[in-house]
Parts: sequence; C-alpha cells; structure tokens
Amino acid sequence: MGEVIQVNNLFRAIQHDRDSLTCAINSVFDSGRVVLGEQVASFENELAEYLKVPNVVSVASGTDALEIAIKISMPKGKSTVLSAANAGAYSAIAARRAGFNITFADVDKTTACLTWGHIQEALNDDVGVVVMTHLYGLLTDISEIAENCKKKGISLVEDCAQSLGANIGGFFSGSFGDIATTSFYPTKNLGALGDGGAIFTANEQLSNKARQLRQYGWSKKYEISSAGGVNSRLDEIQAAFLRIRLPQLDSNNEVRRQIINSYIEAAENSALHVFPADGPNHSGHLAVLVTENREELRQFLSEEGISTEIHFPIPDYKQVGLMADPHKLPNTEWLCNRILTLPCYPELLSIEIEKICQAIRTFNE
Ligand SMILES: Cc1ncc(COP(=O)(O)O)c(C=O)c1O
Repeated sequence: MGEVIQVNNLFRAIQHDRDSLTCAINSVFDSGRVVLGEQVASFENELAEYLKVPNVVSVASGTDALEIAIKISMPKGKSTVLSAANAGAYSAIAARRAGFNITFADVDKTTACLTWGHIQEALNDDVGVVVMTHLYGLLTDISEIAENCKKKGISLVEDCAQSLGANIGGFFSGSFGDIATTSFYPTKNLGALGDGGAIFTANEQLSNKARQLRQYGWSKKYEISSAGGVNSRLDEIQAAFLRIRLPQLDSNNEVRRQIINSYIEAAENSALHVFPADGPNHSGHLAVLVTENREELRQFLSEEGISTEIHFPIPDYKQVGLMADPHKLPNTEWLCNRILTLPCYPELLSIEIEKICQAIRTFNE
C-alpha cells in the first residue's frame, strides 16, 4: 500500500508555498519588529478589504476571538450564550472563559447548522448572545436569525472559522451578524503556521473595544481603560504568512468544493449522503458524509489507506469538562453518531481523489 491519504496534509501545504513563506520570514527578520507591526497592520487591512468589512482585529487564536467577541457583545443584564452543540465546543469554551452561562439549541439535520426555529425553541430570558457557527464551511441564509436576534436585543456572533470566503451574492460569512470571528489554525482554509485568529465587524465601537481587549485592555501603552483585557496578539511572522496565503483563498476554496463534488458523485444512488458544497456559499472546508454504517466504512477506508475523522463526535452538553446543564437534542445526536470526514485539502492529488471515490463506490457495491 502507498502513503496513507491523510484528512489534511500540512507538509504539502508548506512545500507548496515554501519559497514565499521563507521570504515572508526574512521580511520580518529585516524589520526587527515581531509583534503588532507592519505585517499585522497590513494583513488586517487586506483581510478587511477582502471581506468588505471596515474593521478587522487580529488575535492569537479563534477561541480568543470568540471569547473577546462574546465578552464585548453581551448586552447588560444578560449572561447566557446560546450555540449549536455539534461544532466542537469552541463557543462554549469561549463563553465559559468570558464568565457566562451556556445553553444549546438543536440544528437542522440537512445542514448541521442552527435555524431560527431551533434557536427559538431553546431561548430563555437570559440569552444575550447567539453564536452561529457556519459548520463545515456552509453559509446558510441567516437573515431570519439576524432579524429576530435584532428584534429581541440579542447579539449575533458569527463563527467563520470554517467558512472564511463563503459568501452569498458577494456578502461574506461574517457580514450578517453584529460581530464575527475566525481562526487561522493551520488546517483552516486560511491557515497560519501556528495559532492565530481574527474578529471582524462593521461596528466601530465593538472593534475599538476588541482592539483594547486583545492587549490587556489598554487604550494606550500601560493605560488600562477596558475591563476584561487579555494578551492575545497575532505575531508578525504569522501575519506575513497569512498575507502570502490570503490571495489564494478563493481558488483553494474552489478546489475544495470540486473535491467534495467528486465524493458526491461517487456516493450517488447509495446510502451515503455527502453534505453538498454547491457554490460560493460554501468554503469547502470539510468533506463530511452521513452514514448508518460509520464504523464499517471507517474500517474499510482505513484498510484502503484512507484516513478519516469525526467533526465532532461528542455534543457539547455531554463534554464532562464543560459542566453544561443536561440537554437532549435529537438532530445533534443523530448527526454526531453518523458523520464522517473524508480527506479534503487543496494539495490532494487527483489520483488520491480517484482512489477515495473508488473506495466509496466499492463500499457501496
Ligand atoms: C468552528 C470553529 N470555531 C472555533 C475554532 C477555534 O479556533 P482555534 O483553534 O484557533 O482556537 C475552530 C477550530 O479550531 C473551529 O473549527
């Protein structure tokens, strides 16, 4: 058997850009500035221009971005964050770190994402923030969620860690709520070579506050004007890497969508359902299928030299360390028990995609 096909392959991603990434490191060496310098400022501007939002504040991780976004958008007198429970618990961790309670709504079975109907069923009077995770990269039409949150005085935080670049009619994921976050974790569609994240918003006040909180709450050096500050800065080297990779985001997302579409074709007329990634409203972040025979399929693919993952296997409210109130969300649990992630990244070779498609066909025979 040849090399095992991994779900993601960072070695290849690095080799693809190696020369430009080396130049990026050298430009930081030449500047002598390693934190919050020219690279970070330029990257924030370039990402803002790409996303068509006026304000981008970079931070040290996607979870930090969520923590700060939740902290600054929680309305006075409220203290509960509502999110889906199938999205890796990042928003729950961030809410806890911000000092708030957590509660969960069920998701739609066909999109794995929240809908207003599900949110409404789970709302209580203390909910001040809803976190909408665009899971696997899918930007659903969230106008109903945005309108209803606004009416009820609830802040809407969009988690775009998996959906960066997804857009509906040129409106990018992150432009529908009050504030949005993303992660530059290396496997993300726009990945650094270490941790990183960003907050973006059209609201100047929120962005000013986020800018203060990412650095101790300083309004200027050594002057703490905002409570709840942390140390969460993107460093210059990561920003320089991200500036190399941002211009490739759209074409890489397209390649990811094509890979997912190959899997959809291979699974046609079978009991496997691959989540669609039809067009620009999907970033193609993860190729996820739903199957009644997950363990059997996983074992078969593993024997064929194909790695798989599960994003994510445990509903947040069953995570012991989160100490959440008990919930029973049927669609969330149905999905958690049936989802399987196939390899999907821009450097995946055609021959490997064909091998995965063939394995899907053979499994279905
Ligand atoms: C949907 C989602 N939100 C948030 C995060 C957290 O980002 P980070 O790992 O940069 O803290 C991740 C991934 O890691 C994610 O997939």
